[in-house]
Amino acid sequence: MKRVFVNGYGSIGSRIAQFITDDSDIEIIGVGKYSPDEKVGDAISRGFKVYVPKNKVDTFQKSHISGTIEKAVEECDLVIDAAPGGVGYVNKKTLYEPKHIRAIFQGGEKITGDKAVSELIFNSRVNYEKAFDKSYVMQGSCNVTGMGRILQPLKEKYGKKIKRFDATLLRRWADLEDSKTEIKDSIEWTRKPHHNEDVKSYMGQDTPLFIRVFKMPTRQMHVHLMDIRFNGSAPSSSEILDLYKNEYGVATLYNAKGTKDIRDFAESIKFSFKDTNMIHIHADLIEIQDDLVKLTYSDDQTGIVVPENHLLMQAMLFKRKREDAFKHTEELFHMEEKKRLLEDHFRQK
Ligand SMILES: NC(=O)c1ccc[n+]([C@@H]2O[C@H](COP(=O)([O-])OP(=O)(O)OC[C@H]3O[C@@H](n4cnc5c(N)ncnc54)[C@H](OP(=O)(O)O)[C@@H]3O)[C@@H](O)[C@H]2O)c1
Repeated sequence: MKRVFVNGYGSIGSRIAQFITDDSDIEIIGVGKYSPDEKVGDAISRGFKVYVPKNKVDTFQKSHISGTIEKAVEECDLVIDAAPGGVGYVNKKTLYEPKHIRAIFQGGEKITGDKAVSELIFNSRVNYEKAFDKSYVMQGSCNVTGMGRILQPLKEKYGKKIKRFDATLLRRWADLEDSKTEIKDSIEWTRKPHHNEDVKSYMGQDTPLFIRVFKMPTRQMHVHLMDIRFNGSAPSSSEILDLYKNEYGVATLYNAKGTKDIRDFAESIKFSFKDTNMIHIHADLIEIQDDLVKLTYSDDQTGIVVPENHLLMQAMLFKRKREDAFKHTEELFHMEEKKRLLEDHFRQK
């Protein structure tokens, strides 16, 4: 049995903790909280021990806390760091490295430059085994993760027949439960988005990928408009859709009105956290024009990286065979069942 500490209990940390608590190979020591707010009670009510920074102990109600984060880190085999973007790097330098504790970081961190947390971005579809002997690995962000699920099957099937991928990412502004962030009535652009470099780091630097990113005033998922240009005529839409039929964490939907439609359905059938944990190809929007495939898919911002963290954890802690790890993740996340329910509900009429 391996011991895991989840440092940070926000949108991502709370989901990871909730899912991996059902993993009988893991003991969750507890979760790290930094603010004495209502999420402390939430964590306790879900059965998690709460640890806080040594220098903030006095700001929390004593009966609510089980110890300090500094101590919890020493007692675990692996930390899943779910700190705000950039703070994971500080934790690595001040907490994990000095104590020789291995860690998984989230997609708001960097893999290049002087604040890099790791040189490896994990994507279970592409480089599962590469995480086996690493001490520090970064799980790609939601957009970066979803893009691997689209690009890798295309690369495997068509290789050099593909000339380039041009993607426009429409990003959500804030998460559903994030009441602190005000959503502005604006569409904002991102200069020098990290996504291009992040995706190429695991897909290969020679991937002809060009990404533009816009932030939209919504809390309901991301949408990617992906144009795939072929050398010569593009394949048919049915050939492209067939490629994703059996892909893990990819659902093919028809007749969804928009991203909220999908989340509302997820809520109606009680998917945890209203997440689908996957990407959704919108098959009724696919267009083929000469050498071009125009593909649209939505990406569950909060849910998609959670099973990925579970797969990465298995690679780092147990070096489990890839197919066994997927089977085990499926036992906790029921992605095949979710995919079936989604595809059945949003089916071709
Ligand atoms: N949200 C998404 O959709 C999404 C998707 C993929 C990847 N990510 C990535 O996941 C990471 C976390 O994002 P999030 O959306 O979960 O953020 P979030 O909801 O703002 O949560 C961040 C959490 O980190 C805690 N925290 C504060 N200082 C910390 C420290 N020094 N060390 C560890 N934790 C600390 C905060 O605790 P208190 O509340 O107690 O202050 C808060 O609960 C980021 O790298 C982000 O880019 C996010």
